[in-house]
Amino acid sequence: MIRRSLALILLTSACARPSSQRNVAVIADDGPQDPAARLEFRIEGRTVRTASLGDLARSVGLETVESYDGYYRRPKRFRALRLDRVLAEAFGAGGGAPLTTRHFILRARDGYTVPMTGERLLEGGAYLAVRDLDAPSWEPIGPQRANPGPAYLVWREPNQVDLETHPRPWQLAAIEIATVEAVFPHTVPSGEGAGSAARRGWELFTEHCIRCHAINREGGRVGPDLSVPLNVTEYRPEAQIRAYIRNPLAFRYGAMPAHPGLGEADLDALVAYLRAMATRKHDPDARTDGGAP
Ligand code: HEC
Repeated sequence: MIRRSLALILLTSACARPSSQRNVAVIADDGPQDPAARLEFRIEGRTVRTASLGDLARSVGLETVESYDGYYRRPKRFRALRLDRVLAEAFGAGGGAPLTTRHFILRARDGYTVPMTGERLLEGGAYLAVRDLDAPSWEPIGPQRANPGPAYLVWREPNQVDLETHPRPWQLAAIEIATVEAVFPHTVPSGEGAGSAARRGWELFTEHCIRCHAINREGGRVGPDLSVPLNVTEYRPEAQIRAYIRNPLAFRYGAMPAHPGLGEADLDALVAYLRAMATRKHDPDARTDGGAP
């Protein structure tokens, strides 16, 4: 008797649930965690399309992807959209030349900004994760407990686990077809010859650093701007800059990763680049009142 009345209570409460809640329960474990979240697609600064994750999932389909994740430091499983299909769907033929020959800039909500060649992005294995299958909602990443959703770029293959060569921007907000020169013109060491140390330093900077750091207010916003108002070479000795780039965790428990792969010549080039930018300042945010409170 007691059992039966309990069952009756459960039944009535299930029926009493508002219908919207019931719908959520039905799609909950398979589709995007946040189907209404939007992703923006741009070509050289112009937005050509915005699409919700729910719409993208319906048009390109979902797969389950399992691979080692360098942020979680273990294998992870996600529901995900194949990135080549997402890009073909979003840009269509509007991208002009084949997408593999273009340059891309991936922008995250937190200011992380990664340039990547189309060749790399479309080499196969790139997916847009839209649901964490190992947790009821997104499992947070790292000491900052960052939430990687609603869209997290992941790579499927065992040879795609290095975060330097195969970056995994989380909280992806926009995918843009553009070169670094076009989007961040004030990061270029203009006037420096093609083979100069400053030029090579700029190339290294776009490959390893611009995803977090801006120069002249252009680039990532995870770390500080390294050129304005004061260029880092104007307030830190060179030896300290080199040591910091190699192993920032020896200085502070911050958010900058170590760069053990950069050799002495690479550090020479990076410092030459930073120095070159000290004489090419451009600061749209500069205060004109001399900084008076
Ligand atoms: C994942 C993001 C990230 C990447 C990639 C990164 N940095 Fe940083 N960087 C930071 C953050 C955040 C700080 C602020 C202090 C901290 O958290 O360590 C910082 C601090 C610095 C500083 C010290 C600035 C100061 O005045 O204290 C230097 C110099 C620097 N970075 C250079 C570089 C260079 C050069 C590269 C590329 C080889 C690079 N960083 C790559 C995030 C990053």
